[in-house]
Amino acid sequence: MSIAAVPAAEAGTDTILSVNNIEVIYDHVILVLKGVSLSVPRGGIVALLGANGAGKTTTLKAVSNLLRAERGEVTKGSIVFDGERVDRMTPNELVRRGCIQVMEGRHCFGHLTIEENLLTGAFTRRDGAAAIRRDMEMVYEYFPRLRQRRNSMSGYTSGGEQQMCAIGRALMSRPKMILLDEPSMGLAPQVVEEIFEIVKDLNAKEGVSFLLAEQNTNIALRYATYGYIMETGRIVMDGDAASLRENEDVKEFYLGIGEGERKSFREVKSYKRRKRWLM
Ligand SMILES: Nc1ncnc2c1ncn2[C@@H]1O[C@H](COP(=O)(O)OP(=O)(O)O)[C@@H](O)[C@H]1O
Ligand SMILES: [Mg+2]
Repeated sequence: MSIAAVPAAEAGTDTILSVNNIEVIYDHVILVLKGVSLSVPRGGIVALLGANGAGKTTTLKAVSNLLRAERGEVTKGSIVFDGERVDRMTPNELVRRGCIQVMEGRHCFGHLTIEENLLTGAFTRRDGAAAIRRDMEMVYEYFPRLRQRRNSMSGYTSGGEQQMCAIGRALMSRPKMILLDEPSMGLAPQVVEEIFEIVKDLNAKEGVSFLLAEQNTNIALRYATYGYIMETGRIVMDGDAASLRENEDVKEFYLGIGEGERKSFREVKSYKRRKRWLM
């Protein structure tokens, strides 16, 4: 039996997040996102890929409503989270509904201990100290390293531990969905692997959905099920992670493993310009 295909954005309860044709402008004049649409299935891990400056962080902040703090504004389109229009909500209202962002650069409070940092993540909750304790225990189960370091000032812990702390703090708000911005940035490959394994676990066992922005296409496409590629404020390609990994352009430009001779970055860039001219 076949049913007429329903666009992901209208699939109702199967879609936890849909971003529909949004435009974002900074400082009233700088147009940064031009008609960006994407969706995340409930319980999915979706990667938002692209080079530095492509618009990944802006997209995530448009969803979590953190743009206003940067004089940015969604001027067109709509954002639906868990069945509700959210583009006019405050970040806190969104956190209460279960959507939270972990910012690029692991924003922990350096002068607080790991445990104090985790507690700050529970600020929107009203279900009491016992429930918060239980969730802290859950965070320590997923991140044994944080348990070991619970009494250390986070400013003195490693980059990997700070990234774990930032994710752990987000978990303390009991999210349905985490917007994770460049979790791999500046971390050693082994630590990156460790963090992505935990993300996978949280997704599988707690059912947390993830939208993760990454420049590291390789690792992101190994853990995500679906990916979107951004260039200068637009989505230029999207597909199942497996098909993106096999795509020749993705291999060439984002995985650095194209067919034939390995090109230098500059050659690749001029090739890309030529290709654009031809289109
Ligand atoms: N607060 C801001 N004001 C003006 N322009 C900005 C601001 N933040 C980002 N931009 C611009 O928006 C574009 C996209 O940036 P960003 O979303 O941070 O990309 P990415 O996360 O993919 O590196 C860049 O050209 C950047 O210079
Ligand atoms: Mg960014």
